[in-house]
Amino acid sequence: MVVIRSIIVYYFSETGNTEAVARAIASALNADLVEILTGSERVDADLAFVGTPTHGFRPAGPVRSFVENNDWAGVRVGLFCTYSLHPGRTLRWMRERIEARGGEVIGELRIKGEHSFIPVLARGRPNERDLRRAQEFARTVLRRFERGARE
Ligand SMILES: Cc1cc2nc3c(=O)[nH]c(=O)nc-3n(C[C@H](O)[C@H](O)[C@H](O)COP(=O)(O)O)c2cc1C
Repeated sequence: MVVIRSIIVYYFSETGNTEAVARAIASALNADLVEILTGSERVDADLAFVGTPTHGFRPAGPVRSFVENNDWAGVRVGLFCTYSLHPGRTLRWMRERIEARGGEVIGELRIKGEHSFIPVLARGRPNERDLRRAQEFARTVLRRFERGARE
């Protein structure tokens, strides 16, 4: 039997877009949500989702600290970001550092999010369809996690 100790969705969100995606993922898996506020939060999960808005083609500052300050050994991770125009290196930035610290990234998702001061970019996003995509992503990552746990 596969015993999953914990699934936690870690996220940072300035204007609510990334939070909406984080909540959709958490509700699909009945997982706990932890908001990243300072970046000094500790990862304590077997399957962790980490979500961030794109800021200057990278993760937001608190998420960069969160990724760099944790030991990811033994943690499997689903990454997600929201962006208005182009996410640039956001997902790769997190993946490279998590894997350099012993974690394994088993899924990645990018979702459009309305820009707070240029709302013409990605207006109304994430929408219902985006949130359904996020829930499907969550279930796909969970299946990969369970397969991996049996190997
Ligand atoms: C300071 C700042 C920098 C941003 N940089 C980018 C960027 O490089 N690329 C992009 O596509 N969107 C960029 N955005 C848009 C946000 O990533 C997007 O609106 C995101 O969904 C906001 O998420 P939140 O509501 O969770 O804070 C930027 C927004 C802000 C406020």
